[in-house]
Amino acid sequence: MGRPLLKWAGGKRQLLPVLRRYYPARFERYIEPFVGSAAVFFDLHAAGRFDGPTVRLADVNPDLIGCYRAVRDDPEAVITALAPLEREHRERGDACYYDVRDRRFNPMRASLGAPGAAAYTPALAAMLIYLNRTGYNGLFRLNRQGAFNVPVGRYSNPRICDAEHVRTVARALAAPGVSLDLAPFEETLGAAGPGDFVYCDPPYAPLSRTASFAQYTARGFGAPDHERLQAAVIAAAGRGAIVLVSNSSAPEIERAYTARAARRAGLLVRRVPARRAINSRAALRGAVDELIITNAPAPSGQLRMARRLPGEHQRVPRERGAVGG
Ligand SMILES: C[S@@+](CC[C@H](N)C(=O)[O-])C[C@H]1O[C@@H](n2cnc3c(N)ncnc32)[C@H](O)[C@@H]1O
Repeated sequence: MGRPLLKWAGGKRQLLPVLRRYYPARFERYIEPFVGSAAVFFDLHAAGRFDGPTVRLADVNPDLIGCYRAVRDDPEAVITALAPLEREHRERGDACYYDVRDRRFNPMRASLGAPGAAAYTPALAAMLIYLNRTGYNGLFRLNRQGAFNVPVGRYSNPRICDAEHVRTVARALAAPGVSLDLAPFEETLGAAGPGDFVYCDPPYAPLSRTASFAQYTARGFGAPDHERLQAAVIAAAGRGAIVLVSNSSAPEIERAYTARAARRAGLLVRRVPARRAINSRAALRGAVDELIITNAPAPSGQLRMARRLPGEHQRVPRERGAVGG
């Protein structure tokens, strides 16, 4: 399996066994509008699926896109900057983390000005990788002033500088036909049409009113964003793209993608057990299912089709033999 460069909240490595069933047999272009740690891109890359197809990766996080571009364009400079951070971390631990975060990374980022992705240097990319490997849960979070404020994580021996892996990631991103854009999903999805395979993994809708959206950007991703995404997904499917979407099983998401317009576009909703199923009691576990929404052909013989009847939205069947449950 192709391993992502970064840990990312909502990273999809654990959902790959389910997602793989919906990868189309053939496509001419792969589009990932919410790329994050790009678990699906690296999975397709490792499986040799980009021999021919072009690839468009996009996200609205300038640090993420800036880091990928710096790694792609000069992996050796990133490795040269990352190796001493690893040595320093082994000597100074938490003190090193806060020193890098507050005295080096944040001031250097601030000097770039917005949006910063184009000006990201190998030194900044190395620091982002270091903070990602050693910070709390690999989170990326900014305070109101726009400074990265994730506290140090508790790892006894974090892997920080894996030079060969940085080179592998750089080769994947530098392959002919791969583009990396700082762009909102509307722009990326709006360009999808026949021959395209699109994987959409937005920040998940919260399952309860008290749970909050994963905050990848200062603006967050709210109900209106999910509504615009649903419309853009339906439009892309209508233009002939194969679309695969993952999201939480929040009722409004299930409703949105079992609505008539979504069904007419050929989209079907399937429930899969969530990766972090924390409750072993089946009745309660249903609440943490995730949804897979797609117009890709059903994998042979494995699944029951989702109910298409109006008013039956809440009873979308769960996928059998799915991951994590
Ligand atoms: C759930 S994560 C994607 C995780 C990814 N599939 C992985 O394997 O790591 C959602 C991503 O959407 C990005 N995002 C948030 N709002 C966006 C928008 N309006 N347009 C494009 N990307 C957005 C975030 O920066 C974040 O990286």
